[in-house]
Order: sequence, then structure tokens, then C-alpha cells
Amino acid sequence: MDGVIVIAVDGPVAAGKGTLARHMATRTGLRHLDSGMIYRAVAALVLEAGDDAGNAQACRQRAERLVAADLERPGLRDQEIGSVSSRIAAHREVRAALVEFQRRFGATPPGAVIDGRDIGTVVFPDADLKFFVTAHVRARAERRHRELVSRGETIDFHSVLHEISERDRRDSERTWAPLRQADDAVVIDTTALDARAVAEKALDIVRQRLGAASVLS
Ligand code: CDP
Repeated sequence: MDGVIVIAVDGPVAAGKGTLARHMATRTGLRHLDSGMIYRAVAALVLEAGDDAGNAQACRQRAERLVAADLERPGLRDQEIGSVSSRIAAHREVRAALVEFQRRFGATPPGAVIDGRDIGTVVFPDADLKFFVTAHVRARAERRHRELVSRGETIDFHSVLHEISERDRRDSERTWAPLRQADDAVVIDTTALDARAVAEKALDIVRQRLGAASVLS
């Protein structure tokens, strides 16, 4: 892409995509978009309106009316919203309504680090650099459980493990833009790495591939 740099960060639930993407954005001076928050915001609107998450047309209408302020709503990281977001995200109509928002964001100079499920495969297949961040499901469930408890949700570990496994399955098996590793993605397994080690590894690759002078501050 001319004049802008897009870095795609995809992967399954709670693999550490968001933390990595935020860190890379700060270090490169690129903007950051957590595309999951877009799906979560649509899920919140669907729940609030009492619509059926299985009704593609009703969900599409909510997606079309989404405004940037909706991404700031409280409670979007709650487990229930996460679960409904992966149901509404399976509708082709919903994805089509949201893809332009993401492309506009990425195309705005100087570019962006965008994390999600289909950024390197569908939204920005020509991204300058693609990461696929993953970890063993138990490690991911432990991280998400800690995160939810620290934010005040009363929830047991096995329910988190179950929800994550279900969401992974739904995200991977859906027909439209399923979660999958792009052929040209760099894979980072975060099972045994802390956030700092993941960031260092990724920034080394950014330096090698994109050149330190052009992006790293
Ligand atoms: O943070 P977490 O890994 O729990 O998920 P998220 O990134 O907040 O995404 C929530 C849900 O939105 C996912 O389970 C997907 O179903 C959907 N999503 C998607 O379909 N495509 C994206 N680019 C981002 C999220």
C-alpha cells in the first residue's frame, strides 16, 4: 500500500494479540485497531435491542449503524458479549458491513497495527507484515480467567475454558472469513512467553522485514 504501513495480527481467543498489537503500535508510531471490539460492540447493540443473534438481517442493521463511540461502551470485554460476538460474526452480512470501516482505518496515514481473526486473510491480504499469534488453549484460558476476575467478573476457570474452546471452534468453522493462518504469516506461539518476550520477538521481525528507520521509534 502506498505511503501507509499495515501490520496484521491474527489468532485465536486470548492468544495475546491485543497486548502485542498495542505495544507494536506504540513502538512503530502506527495507529492501533482491535477489530474484535467492533464485533463486540455490534453484539452489545444486538443484545440491548433484544434482537436474535441468529438473525442475520437484524444483526446487519445494527452493524450498519455502528459509530466509533460504540467501541467505547462499558462491558464490551465481558464473557457474554464475547460469546455473542462470535455468533454475530459468523453472518456474511455483518462482516461485509464492517470491512470498510477497518479498511478506512488502516488506509489512514501512517497506517495501523490491526488485530483480529481475518485481517491478514480478508481485510488486508496485502498487509506489509502478518503475524499469527497462538498458544495452547489451557494457557489462553488461564490468562483470560485472570483478566476477567481482575475486572470483577465472578467466573470459574472451567467455564472460561469451555467458552474459549467453543468460540475457537465457531470462529474456525464458520463459512465466511474463518480464523486461519495466512500462508505468509509469521507464527508466534506465546504459550511459554510473557508479553515482553512476545513483543521483543515481534519487534525483531518488524526491524528485519520493514527496516528500523522507517517505522521504529
Ligand atoms: O479478545 P478475544 O480473543 O476474546 O476476542 P476478540 O478479538 O475481542 O473478538 C471477539 C469475537 O469477534 C471473536 O471471537 C470473533 O468471533 C469476532 N471477530 C471476528 O470475527 N473477526 C475479527 N477480525 C475480530 C473478531
